[in-house]
Formats: sequence, C-alpha cells, structure tokens
Amino acid sequence: MKARIRIDREYVIAETDPRLFGSFLEHLGRAIYGGIWEPSHPSADKDGFRQDVLDLIAELDVPLVRYPGGNFVSSFNWEDSVGPLELRPRRMDLAWRSVEPNLFGLNEFMKWTKRANTKAMMAVNLGTRGIEAAGALAEYCNHPGGSYWSDLRKAHGASEPHDIRMWCLGNEMDGPWQVGQKTADEYGRLAFETAKAIKLFDPSLELIACGSSFPALPTFPHWEYTVMDHCYDKVDYLSLHQYQGNTSDDLSTYLAASTGMDRFIDTVTATCDHVMAKKRSKKKMMLSFDEWNVWFHSLESDKRQEPWTVGPHLLEDIYTFEDSLVVGCLLNSLLRHADRVKIACLAQLVNCIAPIMTENGGPSWRQTIFWPFMYASRCGRGMVMDARVTVDCYENPTHGPTPYLDAATVHDGTGRFLTAFLVNRHPTENLYLGWDVSGLEIAELAEHIELAGFHPKETNTAREPDKVRPSAAGRTQKEGDSWISVLKPLSWNMVRFNLAD
Ligand code: AHR
Repeated sequence: MKARIRIDREYVIAETDPRLFGSFLEHLGRAIYGGIWEPSHPSADKDGFRQDVLDLIAELDVPLVRYPGGNFVSSFNWEDSVGPLELRPRRMDLAWRSVEPNLFGLNEFMKWTKRANTKAMMAVNLGTRGIEAAGALAEYCNHPGGSYWSDLRKAHGASEPHDIRMWCLGNEMDGPWQVGQKTADEYGRLAFETAKAIKLFDPSLELIACGSSFPALPTFPHWEYTVMDHCYDKVDYLSLHQYQGNTSDDLSTYLAASTGMDRFIDTVTATCDHVMAKKRSKKKMMLSFDEWNVWFHSLESDKRQEPWTVGPHLLEDIYTFEDSLVVGCLLNSLLRHADRVKIACLAQLVNCIAPIMTENGGPSWRQTIFWPFMYASRCGRGMVMDARVTVDCYENPTHGPTPYLDAATVHDGTGRFLTAFLVNRHPTENLYLGWDVSGLEIAELAEHIELAGFHPKETNTAREPDKVRPSAAGRTQKEGDSWISVLKPLSWNMVRFNLAD
C-alpha cells in the first residue's frame, strides 16, 4: 500500500514542552516499595534507591514525575511521611486497600528526584482534606525558613527548599471510586479556593485542576465546563486522564485508540475555549495529560490480591508488542497536540502499568512500551510539524475511519534533524511511504529504527528481557529525487533525516 507524508517548514503546530515526556510514581503496589526503593537490593545506594532502576529511568530521560498519587493522594496525610522514621505511622490506604508504612516519604522522594535528574509534580489531597493541608504542604516544601512548616522541614534534615513548581489540585475528583468524590461545583469551588491560597503564597507556582477521570463518564465534558467556570482565572492547566485496553482482543479497534485520544483532547480544548469566550478572557487554558497509558492486563488478577499488605503485586501489566504500537500512536497524538498539551505523564514509571519492571531482590527490565516512549522522549523534542498524511483508511465501528498510518513529525531545535514517528496499522501489508518535504533539505538518512516482526502478544520478561526490542533494520532510501520508507505490517518506526545546513 502507498502513503505520502507532506511537510512544509512553514507549517508548524508548536514547539514541544519537554514536560510532555513526564511520568508518574504513586504509592501503589510495588512502584515505590520494591520499585524505586529497596534498601536490601544489591544495587541499592545508601538511601535505598535502586541504581538499576535509576539507570533505566535515565535512558527514558523523564523531565518530571507526578507524586504521590493518583487515588492514593485522596486520603493521604502528607505529614505522616516526614520526620523521624520511628514516629511515622503505618496507615491503611483506602484507595488500594494496602498498608502504607511511610518508610519512604516526601523528603526521600525529593532526594530521589535529584538522583533521577527529574522534577516533582506534587499532588495535594482534596478528597479528605483541603486548603489548609495543601497550603501547609506548599510552605513545608518551598518556603526557605522562618515559618512553622518550613522550619519543620529544616528540622527534618532538608535545609534547602524543594522548590516544587507544579501542583495538582487533587486527583480524579469526579470518580465514584475516589475517597472524597465531589460534584463539579463542589470541586470547582474547592479548587478555586485552594488555588487562591497557593497563589497567595507564591503566584509563580503552576496549578493543575482535575478534569474528568476518563471521557466515557456521563459527566464528561460538563465536568470540565463547570470546573473551568469556577477556577479558570486561578489555574494554569486542566488535566486529562485516559487508559487504553484490548479486553475484547480486537486489534484493529485497539490500534485506532489514538484517534479517540485525538478527539478527547480536541473536546477538552473546545470546552476550555468555550469558558474562555464566556469569560471574555484572553488566557488560553493549557492541558496536562497527566495519566495516559495502556492498562487492562492486570485488572482480573488484581481482584484476587490479598488486601492490607505492603507493596502488593497490583497493576503489574506485562505489556505485549501490540501494546507498544498503541503507546507509539498515543505519543503521536500528544505530539500532534503540542500547541495545547504542555505536560503529560506516562502512568506510571515502575512496576505499576509501567515501562520498567523489577523483581524484589532481583533484576529490572524494559517492557515493550519502554521503546516508543524512550525514542519519543529523546528524539521528539523540537518543533512539531503539521504533517499531512495521505493514506487509505479502514472502517472501525468504535473509532470510525482510521488511517493505516499514524504519524507525528518533529524538526529538532538545532535544525539538524527531521524526525518522524510512524506506526503502520496494517496487519499484513507494507506501507511504502513517500516523503514530500518543502523548505527543508534532506541531506541523508540518519537512522530508521523499527519495532517490527514480532507476534502481537510477544512480551519481555525477567528471563527474556530483550525479546521485543527495536532494530536499525528499517529501510528508507532515495529513489530518484524522492525518499521512500518501507514500513512493515504492524510496526512502529522512527525515521530520522540529517538536514542540510
Ligand atoms: O494510575 C493508576 C490510577 O489510575 C491512579 O491512581 C488514578 O488516578 C487513576 O484512576
């Protein structure tokens, strides 16, 4: 099958915000305990941080990590997680029906972010708590000293302020599963007042209000409209959350998931712009897609998990090759919306629906989805081009007409590379992709990396960690005056060209 991609130097969507390649660590399952922190592990440093995991995170180059939840945050007392270890309480975490020992807390996390070369995005509890606890947390974290909470931080051994710039005002407050669920009006008012207090403390902090937990909820997008109506002027981002799955084992629908993500982002953007118009505001609301990924493999086994243990095996999705194709398409959707989506978090980072898996006391390895994320994070920063694709579509009952090719193209900041991330959704046919590039001169092919040729259900495991991995076997060549890429059936590809000066 033939396809064409048209790129013009003049047609740019936006520059990517590096925070598009963020991730998320929640006090959930083995994300923290046995994931990033395991003092008895052979690779652990003096603080108990697993170095093998830090090395894999370094490969992903993650600029921010959202913390400490997720659902967990909605009944979390942050004060439990600071101060002398022997005084920290063991608590029953209602969100995941686990025991939280508070052996790893706020100050440990902030130390870990430095080791991981990343920044924290802190969520406050607006489920069971409110303005006062959120304000105290901001003061504890960010004030240099001379006040009750900042001096307490110093007494806890963190002499310098943590300087956390991004703050999530609660988590999924529309969800019936959320401890302290609220109506849109209740949440909108609380988010406004919490935002007001935090901005009085420091107007330069960036605040993220909760959007819907997922777009299939009946309250979507009215929730967005109402919440924005309350706090449009006080917050900087509205959040989006969405997970994909292939529960009915229907690959063609599953692979079309990014068209649903495109629609979701477009709807939230339109809703924000409606509020902007209503308020006669000049401010354009930006979006934080702070939970996205594939999540479905572990749903059944999680129901059988023993409650009230520390670090249970929860949300341990073992990803397949087909999941990596979907993640590649979802990343493309985020890139295509770089004008509005400034922050995004792959949910999550280690063990729970994560690109990185570990065994307690054992090895760590890269899941299949690690690869498209790593390449997008490392090579997808720059100017996202408004690439126009011509290709056949297939009809899908859930998502409608779906192009066989999913594409996003970035012209890197230095002007040296043109990089495309390409997924061929066709189950049996090669796509012969012709490049039509104006205003940029392709000097030569830098690389064509592909993830291709695997059984859709192939996985990486502790015993066979490298079964699904990319290779440089992709074929892109010049034929006459034109460049042609061959995209194998069911493949993710990164094609990079060196540009002439
Ligand atoms: O990432 C797992 C969970 O998914 C988060 O805790 C919650 O916010 C969402 O429902």
